[in-house]
Amino acid sequence: MSDNYSLQQYASDLRAIVAATSDEDEILQRVGPLAQRFVADRSWLEPRHYETDAEQGFGVHLLHEEPDHSLAVLALAWLPGRGTPAHDHGTWAVVAGVEGVEHNVRYNRIDDRSRDDFAELEIKHEFDAGEGDLVCMRTGGIHKVTNETDRVTLSVHTYGRHINHTNRSQFDLDSNARTPFIVRVD
Ligand SMILES: [Fe+2]
Repeated sequence: MSDNYSLQQYASDLRAIVAATSDEDEILQRVGPLAQRFVADRSWLEPRHYETDAEQGFGVHLLHEEPDHSLAVLALAWLPGRGTPAHDHGTWAVVAGVEGVEHNVRYNRIDDRSRDDFAELEIKHEFDAGEGDLVCMRTGGIHKVTNETDRVTLSVHTYGRHINHTNRSQFDLDSNARTPFIVRVD
């Protein structure tokens, strides 16, 4: 499917959706198919979006962000064998696969949330997300992403708010430590 769906059109549609509803389930339902159209279009895709960050394990490339940091669209390039710690986003998230297969682990938080610096997680389910596949998460959804292939993978991530402006967390699965999660963005 390729129907000339530009970044400008995608951003305009995102603005219309969040202006029309604040219901996260409805936002996710409406953004998902548009994210799939956007990754199918590929007119936005440039060689620099495949650039990775060896220290971080993945490269983060900003495609769009509103002046108030809402509606961020990011292209993420993942190094083989690398990935994220378990993390949340502090906002809703829609991930659409562009190239390659990314392994996702989704978690439930099972502690009583009485401590800011502690969180106990249990695995909810695991799955592979490939080209055109969607991973949609409400605010508070926790997952871990790993590129288990031998090539760089690419996905487009759309968030209700830029993830470095949401006070989101990463979770250490061994120590149960909960700490801020900031990423380097190009
Ligand atoms: Fe994520």
